[in-house]
Amino acid sequence: MGSLAEAPDGKGWVMAENMKELALKKFEEVFGGAQGVNVYFAPGRVNMIGEHTDYNGGHVFPCALTIGTYGAARKREDGKLRFYSMNFEHLGVMESSLDELKMEKEAGWTNYPKGMIWAFGEKGYQVPFGMDLLLNGNIPNGSGLSSSASVEVLTGFILKDLFGFEVTNQELALIGQYAENKFNGVNCGIMDQFASAMGKKGRAIFLDTADLSFEYAPIQLENAKIVISCSNKKRGLADSKYNERRSECETALAELQEVVGIRNLGDLTQEQFEQYKAAIKDEVRVKRAKHAVYENQRTIQAVEALKANKIELFGKLMNESHISLQYDYEVTGVELDTLVEEAWKVDGVIGSRMTGAGFGGCTVSIVKDDAIDAFIEQVGKAYQKKIGYDADFYVVEIGDGPSKL
Ligand code: GLA
Repeated sequence: MGSLAEAPDGKGWVMAENMKELALKKFEEVFGGAQGVNVYFAPGRVNMIGEHTDYNGGHVFPCALTIGTYGAARKREDGKLRFYSMNFEHLGVMESSLDELKMEKEAGWTNYPKGMIWAFGEKGYQVPFGMDLLLNGNIPNGSGLSSSASVEVLTGFILKDLFGFEVTNQELALIGQYAENKFNGVNCGIMDQFASAMGKKGRAIFLDTADLSFEYAPIQLENAKIVISCSNKKRGLADSKYNERRSECETALAELQEVVGIRNLGDLTQEQFEQYKAAIKDEVRVKRAKHAVYENQRTIQAVEALKANKIELFGKLMNESHISLQYDYEVTGVELDTLVEEAWKVDGVIGSRMTGAGFGGCTVSIVKDDAIDAFIEQVGKAYQKKIGYDADFYVVEIGDGPSKL
């Protein structure tokens, strides 16, 4: 889903103040009374490196952002569910109930909270009563910064608080992925929900998706910031293309398993891949599998570089990641390629690549403080000239996982 509550100001910051107050006020107006209402938050995410590796048993390196989705919620005494989003005000109040938990196209964004309530039940946490839920998000519209995962994690966090379920944040991530896969029909990996549920201020999460072991790594950027450039390209066919890449990787894995005992593409080193790749009987699948293997190794190397304070090397690996996503995995497109290629031309850019699923959405760049204005100006102009409409820029900060405010 897309969501935009506040336009960014001139400098590219997304406003986060007042989100709680605005949500409370609107809740009162829409649902009546403010008694028993609590406000919660769950973040969006940006992935620094490790793209399309999370369903290949590889590593990812995302971080939670300080932007995300705010939710005002109140328990009901019946089984009704009433939803309202300040990002989709034209839809008004949308109603459902605990015994009607089915995915319906017309239900729009409410399929995410409904999916989460359904998934809780499937995992043995039967939700006993309905609720009134109002959302207010400040993740830029259609940006691929995981607004849907933030809504899933937020809903799970609210259910836990309202009904006293003993569920850890890591379980929330897994239930969120289950809801997305089985209720909403998108075959995503674990990265987005994990980043939203497990985020830590100032840190990225180095997660091994083969066994969910992880560690936090501080992102200490001296005199530099993370800048997100949003292509504003609609993601159109993204879900079907995503599922197609996933099945190409699964076929390549099955072919490799004929000659080598691995569980995932992420089990292979680059050298092993080169040794066994002839087992893959199609050139396109060789490229897809190559990306999955090399990107995983690149991610491991990038985190080592970061720990050793070799930020230039980290940036170089980000650039290589983009090239691999462009030529081998083929998920970028002219909009993302333009943003990245123009970013590489700006002095003071340490690294730049597409982030998330691709086919539109955003790029992530590390930019030196004194180059940020020039970056926004130069990349913005060149993008508008080539693509014909504007990109948006956001200087972001790494924030914590879900909370009750
Ligand atoms: C989407 C999915 C994630 C991950 C990325 C690509 O964001 O939801 O699970 O696969 O694409 O890295």
